[in-house]
Amino acid sequence: MAQKAMFRIWRGDAEGGAFQDYMTPVDEGMVVLDAVHRIQAHQAPDLAVRWNCKAGKCGSCSAEINGMPKLMCMTRLSDLPLDRPVTVEPMHAFPRLKDLVTDVSWNFRVKKGIKPFKPRPPDAPDGTWRIAQKDVDRVQEFRKCIE
Ligand code: FES
Repeated sequence: MAQKAMFRIWRGDAEGGAFQDYMTPVDEGMVVLDAVHRIQAHQAPDLAVRWNCKAGKCGSCSAEINGMPKLMCMTRLSDLPLDRPVTVEPMHAFPRLKDLVTDVSWNFRVKKGIKPFKPRPPDAPDGTWRIAQKDVDRVQEFRKCIE
């Protein structure tokens, strides 16, 4: 892996912005979010970026990496061509707020319309529930979707 890599990060707000280039050291095992944090720590302390779990579960770190929607915390630098700049920009599907942070309030409005899960009383003789494998498989599809 190269010792340094160029990251072309979109900087701006809802009114507009532009890409800015940042050359930063990279180490084996790093993901894009690590590089963005390194840039934030050493070169651009005002760079806005959102993340929470760093485990590919919450979706907060979504960004367009080299033009493709990805999770920054799950995108390994070793899977990217580092001989040219890695572009990182906010998700196109949501309005831009600042730098890599977008307005995802639409998600929360939709979530309010989803009825909370209320399990029915246990139906098995041992006081537990049974679920068919085909229903487990279907739920698993939705669990995986964020990844
Ligand atoms: S920080 Fe949660 S999915 Fe990347």
